[in-house]
Amino acid sequence: MKKEQVVNSQFSVWYPLFKKHTIKSLILPLPQNVIDYLLDDGTLVVSGSCENNNQCSQTNNSDSEEEEDIQWSDDETTTVATAPEFPEFTIKVQEAINTLGGRIFPKLNWSAPRDANWIALNSSLQCQSLSDIFLLFKSSDFITHDLTQPFLHCSDDSPDPVINYELVLRKWSELIPGGEFRCFVKENKLIGISQRDYTQHYQHISKQEASISSSILQFFRDHIQHQFPDEDFVLDVYRDSMGRVWLIDFNPFGEVTDSLLFTWEELTSGNNLTASDTEALQDGPAFRYTTSEVTVQPSPCLSYRIPRDFLDLSTGEDSYKLIDFLKLKKGQQEEEEESDSEAEPHVDTT
Ligand SMILES: Nc1ncnc2c1ncn2[C@@H]1O[C@H](COP(=O)(O)OP(=O)(O)OP(=O)(O)O)[C@@H](O)[C@H]1O
Ligand SMILES: [Mg+2]
Repeated sequence: MKKEQVVNSQFSVWYPLFKKHTIKSLILPLPQNVIDYLLDDGTLVVSGSCENNNQCSQTNNSDSEEEEDIQWSDDETTTVATAPEFPEFTIKVQEAINTLGGRIFPKLNWSAPRDANWIALNSSLQCQSLSDIFLLFKSSDFITHDLTQPFLHCSDDSPDPVINYELVLRKWSELIPGGEFRCFVKENKLIGISQRDYTQHYQHISKQEASISSSILQFFRDHIQHQFPDEDFVLDVYRDSMGRVWLIDFNPFGEVTDSLLFTWEELTSGNNLTASDTEALQDGPAFRYTTSEVTVQPSPCLSYRIPRDFLDLSTGEDSYKLIDFLKLKKGQQEEEEESDSEAEPHVDTT
């Protein structure tokens, strides 16, 4: 995979070319101080505190002037962390969210914080304000990857191209996972289609294999083929309940992209990629989906989650766990105090 392929799969590169076939979105340049805040490990305190659409008051101060560094006030008993504020950026984001109907799906240049949805109150990537977005972004390794090592796995030694980071806001759309497919394109030929959510078996996919495959192939030929800046790429599509195909995303053709029900070896070598036995599909791409015989698998993002107990403790959801935890801490403290006093040298004052 070449660095140029990574550059070309950035949202702001492909969106203007394929606007008509994808979900309505807005792109905002990410100011440097916001990038710094996202990369700062020191605080999970969330900035961008506009709780709802109308609470942002207009301000003439620029973000850099207004930015307040994280402050630690150490007065022996409490430690208070104040998140930085980005008033201008907050207003721009809120306006964009409102334009998109009030509920959005957030991304950076390539990735969405899919590994962080467990942290959101609604366990979803749906956001209504910049603070919702920050909470997800600051908890996501996928977002950190975009910011720190976008060219990982690239084979060329050329210097890294300069990246202008941007916040992508996409109108929220209820996508049914069984309608999502990932398409692998090599030398401008659609060679493979995989069910995107391979952890589940969807009956309708096996029943409609031929029509799904041919509608995706048609969509590819009519709107994508020879129009993307590279000849090797991966595109994600959605087939809605009316059978209409939509573009969701482009990804680089290589290891950074999940090959789902294929392996990268198969995709790069072309081995095993025979199209279906079904007559109608013989010239088409290889089509793979989870059949009922395959054991349903755990969600790939599960490993990014924290243990349930931690979550319950942090949200106060299970008060008994909290009480047990406090008792445990108190017991530990008492033990420590006892052993401390034993270890202390006795000073004879007489
Ligand atoms: N506008 C949207 N509204 C609601 N859900 C969405 C929207 N766009 C995408 N999704 C959901 O989020 C998932 C991930 O979206 P997307 O492919 O844009 O993220 P990504 O970070 O590029 O993922 P990957 O790393 O797999 O390429 C999609 O499979 C879809 O289920
Ligand atoms: Mg993607």
